[in-house]
Amino acid sequence: MELRKLSDLTDADLDELYAVESRPWLRVNMVSTVDGSATGPNGRSGGINNAADKRVFDTLRRLCDCVVVGAGTARDEGYRDLTKPLVLVSRRGEVPPRLRDAPAGSVLMATCAAAEHLDETRAILGDDQVLVLGQHRVDLAELKHTLAERGYPSLLSEGGPQLLSGLLAEGVVDELDLTVVPRLLAGEHPRITDGAPVDLPLELALLLEDGGTLLGRWLT
Ligand SMILES: NC(=O)c1ccc[n+]([C@@H]2O[C@H](COP(=O)([O-])OP(=O)(O)OC[C@H]3O[C@@H](n4cnc5c(N)ncnc54)[C@H](OP(=O)(O)O)[C@@H]3O)[C@@H](O)[C@H]2O)c1
Repeated sequence: MELRKLSDLTDADLDELYAVESRPWLRVNMVSTVDGSATGPNGRSGGINNAADKRVFDTLRRLCDCVVVGAGTARDEGYRDLTKPLVLVSRRGEVPPRLRDAPAGSVLMATCAAAEHLDETRAILGDDQVLVLGQHRVDLAELKHTLAERGYPSLLSEGGPQLLSGLLAEGVVDELDLTVVPRLLAGEHPRITDGAPVDLPLELALLLEDGGTLLGRWLT
């Protein structure tokens, strides 16, 4: 595996290096410190990401058909960027306040039949924007299939840790893109996964470097 300098690559090079191998395809993009923290001192991933991470983040956004994010991350990070359709995954089925006035059709909610906010969310987003995929939790394999059928075969998940663990447990992750930033935080912070144990071998397909930041493309 050759280590490539991110600064030597154009955006077109990145598009080629990160092209998906087949469809449907689900990749998850995460960032961590060297000691495994998934959040900065402010409790958000925005507290540890940097310009190199943002370049790959933007590449993956450019290449995907839609962005899939856990409701916790949408709430904590105040998601507002709707350049690609945004699919929220939530057991409660509640649209975060900052997304309630989103343009029609830009936000989908994947939730379950038991969701307490189902009626309210249908009223906010429209019936056809609400996907009920399970009784008490979202069946994530079904979500991948449903989104591909809907015209979104290339899926990008931006986490967070609970959603990543669920996706791994259901065996639906094709690729993990992980940025490791050159920082140590110690203390108590979440990791990029939060859920039941899995033991999944990964194959390193690409490794980029920029000022000590390592950006890996790992295939399952
Ligand atoms: N380092 C990174 O790359 C990175 C990336 C993203 C987020 N983060 C950080 O992670 C933290 C948030 O962590 P988190 O674990 O709460 O995030 P999360 O996985 O985005 O959100 C958890 C929530 O997602 C919903 N959910 C997940 N799986 C589900 C399933 N199978 N069915 C139904 N609902 C499901 C539930 O929503 P409801 O509660 O609405 O039912 C659950 O409470 C923030 O601090 C954020 O900054 C870090």
